[in-house]
Amino acid sequence: MSTPTNNKRGFWATRMGFILAASGSAIGLGNVWKFPYVTGQNGGGAFVLLYLVCIFAIGLPIMLAEFTLGRRTNLNPVGAFAAIKPGSPWVGIGFMGVSAGFLILSFYAVVGGWTVAYVVKSVTHSVLDFSSPEQAGQFFGQFISHTWEVLIYHAIFMALCVAIVIKGVHGGIERACDIMMPTLFVILLVLMARSLTLPGAMEGVKFYLYPDFSKIQPQTVLIALGQAFFSLSLGMGAMLTYGSYLSPKENLTAATVYVVLFDTLIALLMGMVIFPAVFSMGLAPTEGPSLVFSVLPTVFSSMPMGTLVSIIFFILLTIAALTSAISLLEVVVAYFIDQRGWDRKRAVLTMAGVIYLLGVPSALSFGVLGDVKFMGMTFFDTVDNIASNYLLPLGGMLTAVFVGWIWGTRAAKEEIEKHETRFHWADQWAFLIRFIAPVAVAGVFLARFF
Ligand code: PHE
Repeated sequence: MSTPTNNKRGFWATRMGFILAASGSAIGLGNVWKFPYVTGQNGGGAFVLLYLVCIFAIGLPIMLAEFTLGRRTNLNPVGAFAAIKPGSPWVGIGFMGVSAGFLILSFYAVVGGWTVAYVVKSVTHSVLDFSSPEQAGQFFGQFISHTWEVLIYHAIFMALCVAIVIKGVHGGIERACDIMMPTLFVILLVLMARSLTLPGAMEGVKFYLYPDFSKIQPQTVLIALGQAFFSLSLGMGAMLTYGSYLSPKENLTAATVYVVLFDTLIALLMGMVIFPAVFSMGLAPTEGPSLVFSVLPTVFSSMPMGTLVSIIFFILLTIAALTSAISLLEVVVAYFIDQRGWDRKRAVLTMAGVIYLLGVPSALSFGVLGDVKFMGMTFFDTVDNIASNYLLPLGGMLTAVFVGWIWGTRAAKEEIEKHETRFHWADQWAFLIRFIAPVAVAGVFLARFF
């Protein structure tokens, strides 16, 4: 069977371009901001080990499934499921994915705005005079409750996203990632060197790398699996959409392994930046979501060349957030281009505008709308909860079932082996995608209900 090609869509120019773009989607606030704080809250080394098992046993096979579906159909998530099983309810996975992209970007852009703000505040020195983490936390709390300031930075982050996505896959997304991803890696290495040479840094390394299995509870396993999902951008068709811009020449298994390794490497490196610094300062690793924004500036304040380190760090965080945010926007935009016949400019501008407006109540959840609660959660937490804890796991599980049982691993293998690539691990992959991935993810999903 020949691949339906849609020449108006454009393709990645180089193999490295695709790998960098997909890694850019995976590497984001999930690695740089969330991974260190969930690791800190869940006991350190043992959690890291569990996380790695989830990444390789569940995340990796599902990522290959998404890439394969995307390249086979050259379509957005809705179009892809409809092309393989026309007229079936499986297209619902695609709609769920587009909705998840919509919802996740609405609050992701808010946090992206905070990172842009901290770049600016580092330059103007206003986040560099803290003598205690409490003081830094208070400063952060005041900032995120300030309506106009937060909305303006939120808009700036969204505008950056639009500027990249409007140029399309090849001109915009690929070129941006080509430059951003290697820079990110180099900056992290510099920060790690700085962090590891602080006095008392080895305590942090020990917490991070020495597994203490007494800290593992059933809940820890679920958190590790959820984090693996979010970090690899799985379950909503982001990787499917990026795969749809691949030409049949590419080796999908190699690309999958590279992306998973890069994402894992950045997360692990980030831990090596954060924990030595946290322990050196005598701070608690269990700080939670505010770790990056309220604790690190204290660390920077006490460092030689703190201003420079702080500027570099928040530029890094902004870059990482941006390369993930553009993949979220691209899923939504690709749907309107492929399925509704919109041109790219109209799709990008309209959808970015709507997503921004949906994000406004999230942005204000830490200030004027702080008291507006839905079942005890702010608007921000509600949107995050629906998208990350329900739509992603369900989408990932159904994608695994679809590829494993409906489309079939044999058909998928044929697509993977296009262009003389031998898929040596086909049987192992089929087993993971048919049995392990659906059962494990169903476990996470059910555990959230009960
Ligand atoms: N993987 C991204 C991160 O780690 C977040 C993301 C989730 C991006 C789902 C796209 C789709 O920040």
